[in-house]
Amino acid sequence: MTTTPIADVRARRGEEAVHETAARGMFERIAPTYDTLNRLMSAGLDRRWRARAVGEVEKGPPGPILDLCAGTMDLTAMIAEAIPRAEVVALDFSPKMLAAGRHKAPGAKVVVGDAMALPFDDGAFAAVVCGFGVRNLADPVRGAREVLRVLRPGGVFVTLELFKPSRWATRAFHLAYAQVILPAVGGLVSGDPRAYRYLASSMAGFLTRPEYERALAGVGFEAVRGWDLTLGIASIVCGSKRPGPTA
Ligand SMILES: C[S@@+](CC[C@H](N)C(=O)[O-])C[C@H]1O[C@@H](n2cnc3c(N)ncnc32)[C@H](O)[C@@H]1O
Repeated sequence: MTTTPIADVRARRGEEAVHETAARGMFERIAPTYDTLNRLMSAGLDRRWRARAVGEVEKGPPGPILDLCAGTMDLTAMIAEAIPRAEVVALDFSPKMLAAGRHKAPGAKVVVGDAMALPFDDGAFAAVVCGFGVRNLADPVRGAREVLRVLRPGGVFVTLELFKPSRWATRAFHLAYAQVILPAVGGLVSGDPRAYRYLASSMAGFLTRPEYERALAGVGFEAVRGWDLTLGIASIVCGSKRPGPTA
């Protein structure tokens, strides 16, 4: 059975009612405090997780790299540093998130756009990376199809995400983190507890890593494989586009 349960998951958590505009507005509001909160609430682990994702991008074929849902451009900056010759493009639908991180990667191209209707030609990128972005998409399957379209044959897609944990202990940790710590600390620092309640619900209701892997395979990605980081709190999933005749 390779069909994705994403639609079911969305329906279960009532996510279909959350309009894109509302999500964008929320990220616009938390943009000024996003980095501080990220460091604080992941105890710095997010930087290590990002470094692992960048390592996977480095193993991919040479060529332009897209940081999808780039936010405040942490991954963009790390990729630009690790692969200095690569053309790096950061895309996000929140201009304020991008503006807050612009200084980190002055050489990168910045594009305001929708991950589910990418403003790029077919086969424009050798690699696409998405850090903590796919669970925010109204339709992650449509997002994955778009990634496949803009990848070159043989190109790689690296997802770094907080999936719904499978292990009991990690699930309990995620629940406490999402329901108590995230809204309390996030609300205090950003002054917007509602935004952090949304982020918490997006974590609680998303797919498990195996479900996401099946969804990627279902839209046509090959060699899909994933693994957990830090007891499954975060995970990486990689997939490739089928190599072309000359790749
Ligand atoms: C949790 S943040 C992650 C940011 C960054 N990638 C990181 O690693 O910190 C999610 C980002 O996804 C962006 N986003 C959500 N839905 C989007 C969409 N449909 N198109 C483009 N960006 C989107 C938000 O604006 C936000 O900046």
